[in-house]
Amino acid sequence: MKHIINTDLLNKKISQFLNAEDYYLSTKNNDIFEQNLQRFFGVQNAISVSSGTAALHCSLIACNIKEGDEILVPAISVPMSISPILYLKAKPIFVDSNLENIDFDYEDLENKITIKTKGILAVYMWGCSYNIDKLLAICKRNNLFLIEDTCQSFGSRWKKKYLGTIGDLGCFSLKDGKIISSGEGGFILTNNFELASKCKNLRSHFSTSNYTQIGYNYRLSEIQALIANFQLTYISKILKYRKKQANYLINHISKFDNISPYKYYKEETSNLFSPLFFLNNQNFDFFSHLSDIGILNSVGSFNFCPVYRRKMISELYPNIFCKNSEKFVSKLLSLILLPNYSFKDLDLIINKISNLI
Ligand SMILES: Cc1ncc(COP(=O)(O)O)c(C=O)c1O
Repeated sequence: MKHIINTDLLNKKISQFLNAEDYYLSTKNNDIFEQNLQRFFGVQNAISVSSGTAALHCSLIACNIKEGDEILVPAISVPMSISPILYLKAKPIFVDSNLENIDFDYEDLENKITIKTKGILAVYMWGCSYNIDKLLAICKRNNLFLIEDTCQSFGSRWKKKYLGTIGDLGCFSLKDGKIISSGEGGFILTNNFELASKCKNLRSHFSTSNYTQIGYNYRLSEIQALIANFQLTYISKILKYRKKQANYLINHISKFDNISPYKYYKEETSNLFSPLFFLNNQNFDFFSHLSDIGILNSVGSFNFCPVYRRKMISELYPNIFCKNSEKFVSKLLSLILLPNYSFKDLDLIINKISNLI
């Protein structure tokens, strides 16, 4: 992101911070970062944490999730979304997707609600939204909480609202490769002060209330907060450049035979975290072949699959099969877009795909 952010100025700020006499006592950078997040997202509370996984873990505990509770999760998600549920010995219930997009198959979702269901974890893969109106109505009707895994969708919106500000809690990652990053890190957004207070205590050993319950060291370091906050000041430029990059790829690649672009809901504005396409005559070799020639993509480079097929889950919950999700993933080309890709790099990607297709 060197061409977007002023790295000389960032270096200067880091150096000033490291030379300050009392830097190890300060929480100033975290405080400022949280205030700026609140302002950007228009929410009452932002809580910085050490990772997106930590954000999810704190959020589930804040919602009082206990052993045996059931949480509805999308089959199209990643192990990092599911692990925090397993940490608590709660039960992820895998819901099938649509055939057209990443959204839930709402019939399947409603069929899977039981007396033990406590909430829904929506995972907005690749910056895509669900039908939020439908999702909120189901949560309300069934008295379920909604946690949004917004790790890949910083800046994506449903109508005018940012994803991650709509449910009870929104969980973000600041890991390398995300829209803004501090190497590692994350944050939680919520308009509920009680949930916010629990998350704040959980991130730092519950030390502010006399250690009344087990907490964690999920703090974001001051230097990471400084770096993340610095990037946040460039957020509109960062999102604008990504949109230009992604639209360039989408416009060119969609012209090839047998390939069509992912169809977003008209109500959503995606951050275009990953340009997405559907292939008609694809096979898995195509995805790995792309990866072999340097074109990073979810299936070929990271073995992306419906999450219940991962061993850590299939050993616990064998025999799960979501037919739409299987089909969806088998035809999905999701390109990994890095912020430092120039238009020359993008042309190279387009040419390589055109030669293979
Ligand atoms: C959808 C999703 N959920 C959760 C996570 C976990 O975030 P982190 O790696 O910061 O713990 C990630 C990041 O890789 C992610 O992409």
